[in-house]
Amino acid sequence: MDKLVINGGRPLRGEVEISGAKNSVLPLLASAILAPGSSSFTNVPTLRDVVTMGLLLGNLGARVERQGDGMSVDTSEISGFEAPYSLVRTMRAAVLVLGPLLARMGRARVSLPGGCAIGARPVNLHLKGLEKMGAHIELNEGYIEASAEGLRGAHIQLDIPTVTGTENLMMAAVLADGETIIDNAAREPEVTDLADALTGMGARIQGAGSSRVVVHGVSGLSPVSHRAIPDRIETGTFMVAAAITGGDLLLRGARADHVEAVADKLQESGAEVTVEPDGLRIRANRRPRAVDITTMPYPGFPTDMQAQLMALLCTAEGTSVITENIFENRYMHVAELDRLGADVRVDGAVAQVRGLPHLNGAPVMATDLRASASLVLAGLVARGTTTIRRIYHLDRGYDRIERKLVAVGADIVREKDE
Ligand code: EPZ
Repeated sequence: MDKLVINGGRPLRGEVEISGAKNSVLPLLASAILAPGSSSFTNVPTLRDVVTMGLLLGNLGARVERQGDGMSVDTSEISGFEAPYSLVRTMRAAVLVLGPLLARMGRARVSLPGGCAIGARPVNLHLKGLEKMGAHIELNEGYIEASAEGLRGAHIQLDIPTVTGTENLMMAAVLADGETIIDNAAREPEVTDLADALTGMGARIQGAGSSRVVVHGVSGLSPVSHRAIPDRIETGTFMVAAAITGGDLLLRGARADHVEAVADKLQESGAEVTVEPDGLRIRANRRPRAVDITTMPYPGFPTDMQAQLMALLCTAEGTSVITENIFENRYMHVAELDRLGADVRVDGAVAQVRGLPHLNGAPVMATDLRASASLVLAGLVARGTTTIRRIYHLDRGYDRIERKLVAVGADIVREKDE
């Protein structure tokens, strides 16, 4: 296992290249199942989760090839229909093959993802929607066993605007017989990116990005070439890196329209965010002011940025109140931030963050992907040395983050952890 060793206190200055969006590339790769032939995707980040999805598609009989920042998936010979527990337990997004397999093969056997550090994360809404489209679903020995003699269009009302639920149902609907309406659909940019790729395959989709998505099923799809959108959570993470170190970063390739809620909060805290021709610039030259954060489905403040903003607010002037509405256990980073001298008190979904003039470096432990990012950010500003263990969590969602940070002045090294 690796660890990161950070010596804090250095303002970050320079340019960062934003990589492709993890939460866009994962459904995009799964969507290749729908179109026999070779689809190619570019702006694909180098992440563990992307490798895992590639392995899963290979297990199903697809031919997967990495070429530079791209990845091609040839599903001419798809023969399997099983996503094994051994893969799904390492990456819950593997559940995204369920809809495409049902649509293409008429059957699927996908391990239930099980819980994860941040919550129970059931997939009941995925299953309920697929059943409305005519799928027969049973749960046996921890597996979802689904079959369908051809899916048919349905009117699906989602209780919660689930992101991968919306994506699974949209992928099931594109080859279904008739019209599918998904109400209370997730509006995340990654849903829109997937809809764009499916449309490129010949699908007929309206309303992606709004809370009502309408899909008219077609008889067949053909492979697509598609470039994934930039990662808005990596963008937000580096915006906080500039703000927390009092630096000045140009985030090349960032989409300002995908990070408005985060930009608003950083500006409220005193940072300066400007849209440049080729990206987003973020500057801060003072201690941040306290701001209140409430996580919501897109376009509200993203839950995937909550831990990172908490790190910033630990050093703010004043007390901030954070409310986490999406996941029931997404404060695992608090105990670790407290080890760095932060003053955070959690009561249910609400965390009260009393800002302090500085944090002090210490050994800490990563617990989940975005919590790890939060600890890196705190380490960049803490006095002295911060050591972060179990950073395999970080590698799931960030493309060589320490190299990008070193390039803009951070004192951070990756070492083997005996
Ligand atoms: C996606 O997860 C993202 N992952 C998550 O990013 C992100 O945190 C989350 O959306 C919310 O924005 C990918 O896109 C691969 P949800 P997803 O279904 O789709 C409940 C990261 O850090 N729910 O929108 O699994 C669920 O428990 C990851 O990159 C049900 O109850 O999230 C949660 O409380 C972490 N039943 C809420 O809805 C269901 O059937 C939102 O979950 C589905 C979801």
